[in-house]
Parts: sequence; structure tokens; C-alpha cells
Amino acid sequence: MKIVIKDDFDQISKHAAELIASQVVLKPDSKLGFATGSTPELTYKYLIDIYRTGRISFKEVTSFNLDEYVGLGEDHKNSYAYYMKNHLFNHIDILDENINIPRGLSENLEGQCRSYEDKIDLVEGIDLQILGIGRNCHIGFNEPDVKFEATTHVVKLDEDTIKANSRFFTSLEEVPRYAISMGIKSIMKSKRIVLIACGKDKARAIKDMVEGKITPQNPASILQLHQNLTVLLDKEASSLLSSI
Ligand code: F6R
Repeated sequence: MKIVIKDDFDQISKHAAELIASQVVLKPDSKLGFATGSTPELTYKYLIDIYRTGRISFKEVTSFNLDEYVGLGEDHKNSYAYYMKNHLFNHIDILDENINIPRGLSENLEGQCRSYEDKIDLVEGIDLQILGIGRNCHIGFNEPDVKFEATTHVVKLDEDTIKANSRFFTSLEEVPRYAISMGIKSIMKSKRIVLIACGKDKARAIKDMVEGKITPQNPASILQLHQNLTVLLDKEASSLLSSI
């Protein structure tokens, strides 16, 4: 595991964008795994800036998103499909047919989870997966007590996650209770993972992930076993680590 600590969110985000850009330069047909939420927003902004300089193209890139709320269609402003269009896809030259996001309105959720996982297997795993982390140590929507062996599946969201994500909705009641998420096993298949965290709210989760016991209670702790993990932190998120 490589840990990179920068002074602030801006610097981490720039660094993350440069890592994604270099992945695309070195392998133009990269399979990229994207996360949503507040954390990667600035990374995507910097990635768009790099794209606009004309130095990189996403025409051959295939993308996979970590998760989507059950019950929200791609036109719903809180869906992750909408988020991705808004924050990244509408601003770069990625082809629509190369974008993969679980469909929250699917009538056959189980079947869709299986075919999503099959697609990941078909491309032999994601080349570079971007992750954020929840305050309860979730990655994707793999909540505490997760099964490490799970692939893409339907998840019941934790109360803490519902509360944390309610900031994007007009009320707590509006937050969907279920989501489709890539599983820990799907994430661990990625050839390279970059996890980004900032702010003191994430310090506990980062300590558990980096220095804690590897246990389903702390889903991100499994990443200690990944062969190619980079953790990008600001000072606050790294503040409880004893090993640095
Ligand atoms: C989002 C996702 C989640 C978030 C996590 C942190 O696609 O998979 O695991 O990365 O909830 O969210 P923020 O960045 O909003 O703190």
C-alpha cells in the first residue's frame, strides 16, 4: 500500500486526476472504475481540465461505476448516472456505449447484477479503480458486515450512510434504502486502486482501513491485501494514523 499525504483537498484531487490521466495515456483503452460522492468531484474537474488541453482522449476508454441507487433513473438528479454525466461524461469524449453504470430502475435487479459482473470479467478486471470511503469504512456501498466474497449485488444501505447521503436530497425520507453495488470481490479484481479521502470525518475510517484488523465490520480493511493500492489523503484524513 502506498500512502500519499498532501496538504489539502485541492492537491489530492490534482494528484488523483494526474494518476487517471497517466493511466489513459499509457493505455488508451483502459477500463476505468469511477466513484461518485463529494470526494471525487474536484478530481473529475481537474481531469476535465487536462482533457481540455488536448493531451488525452477517452474515446477508447470503458468505464464502470461502483454503484447506483435502486429506484432512481438516469434522469433523476440524485442518481449516480446523472452525477457522472454532470461531473465528467458530458465534458469528455467517452463514448456512450462504453459507459457502464448499474441501472437503478431495472426490473430484474439480480439478473442485472450478474450481467454487470460478467462485463467486468469479460474485460478481465478494471485497470484503475477510483474509490472514496464512507465514515463507516464502506467502499462502494459495501457496508459493515459485508461478505468479502460478494460480487455485484443489491445492498440495504446502513443508517449512517443514509444520513450522510441525505445532504444531497431534500429530506432524509427521500434517500433510497437500497442500492446496487460492485462487491468487495469485484473491487479487489481491479489491477490498481486509488482511494481518496479528505477531512477529519474520514480519519477514523482511514485508520481502521490502514491499521485495523481485516474484518467485514470494516469493509475497506480488505484493501490491505490489495497488491497495487494508492491511498491519497489530506492531513486531516491522515491525522489518526500512527504509522506515519
Ligand atoms: C460512491 C461510493 C461511496 C462513496 C462514499 C464517500 O460511488 O461508492 O462509497 O465513495 O460514501 O462519499 P463522499 O465522497 O461523498 O464522502
